[in-house]
Amino acid sequence: MLDFNAKSVEYAASLIKSGEIVAFPTETVYGLGADTHNTAAITKIYQAKGRPNSNPLIVHISRLDMLYSVAERVSERAEKIVKAFMPAPLTIVLPKKKSVPDTVTAGLPTVAIRMPQSAQAREFISACNLPIAAPSANTSSRPSPTCAQDVYDDLKGKIPLILAGERCQVGIESTVLSLVDEPIILRPGIITPTQISEVLGEKVKVLTKADGKVNSPGVFFKHYAPNCPAVLFVGDDTAQVYSHYQESLSKYSSPCILCTEKFVGSFPENSVYSMGETEEEVARNYFSLLRQTEKEHDYIIILFNPKGEIGESILNRMTKSVENHIYTEGTK
Ligand code: TXA
Ligand code: MG
Repeated sequence: MLDFNAKSVEYAASLIKSGEIVAFPTETVYGLGADTHNTAAITKIYQAKGRPNSNPLIVHISRLDMLYSVAERVSERAEKIVKAFMPAPLTIVLPKKKSVPDTVTAGLPTVAIRMPQSAQAREFISACNLPIAAPSANTSSRPSPTCAQDVYDDLKGKIPLILAGERCQVGIESTVLSLVDEPIILRPGIITPTQISEVLGEKVKVLTKADGKVNSPGVFFKHYAPNCPAVLFVGDDTAQVYSHYQESLSKYSSPCILCTEKFVGSFPENSVYSMGETEEEVARNYFSLLRQTEKEHDYIIILFNPKGEIGESILNRMTKSVENHIYTEGTK
């Protein structure tokens, strides 16, 4: 693990050019990068993460010419999105160029592309001077890493270098928007359906379970799970959560509660954690709190009530973390 500076970035770029993999900061979560066109290097990413090879990677770029080097066609819609947002915590899916290896796209005829907003991420990609294929830098199925230490905890001994830069400001992964046919959001994030619809001048769909035919393999895998059991209460019912906490004491020695700032006072001081006040704060803190609390507790009870579109994106991650152990208000 090396502090992020001109020298370590140069070293990171030399590793990438020699076919190695490197973890690097972005504004969403840390990424684990390799040269997009080096299939042996891409294979190392899947091995280090224990990632199913049917789950494709996102190609990270620092300049627009890199977009044209991996996308076969950049539609009018894509041009609009690029102009309005990039660089941003937003990934677009387009038809791929033949030269993009199947190992990157998991055999799909499309490629996911993102220009990170983080200046550090772009500095690293620019130093490599290559489009960088990268998934999140966690062990597959674990919560995504939002600081260098999280990467170290999962991947120490398995990768040669972590560029230890800034803590991730967004905290959840990019919005994934497919522009292959009708625009559809495959993974919700901090860039919202409303923002995208406004730019496109048309309504954008959001992938639901019913849209099984849409090909975004990643959304169906086990994800973001802490290493102890967790449960999610959707709503504001602190009394219900408190009684669940009390009952859980017969089974667990150290349960804890994650909730927004305004509910912290409703629970025992030594077992409650604030995820923040605003939805942006909750997004920033959520994965990091999962990783913190799993170390000290053996059961995680989450209370959250999404108010806006960012809240819905957070709820998407929470739902996966708890593997569908969900209570909605009024149910027991
Ligand atoms: O914010 C982010 O996107 C972070 C940082 C590192 O940039 N990266 C990230 O990568 O979250 P990963 O691999 O954890 O998630 C990639 C997602 C998966 O859901 C995958 O299925 C989807 O993008 N994806 C990649 N290529 C695709 C394609 N060609 N078509 C549809 N979905 C694709
Ligand atoms: Mg991931």
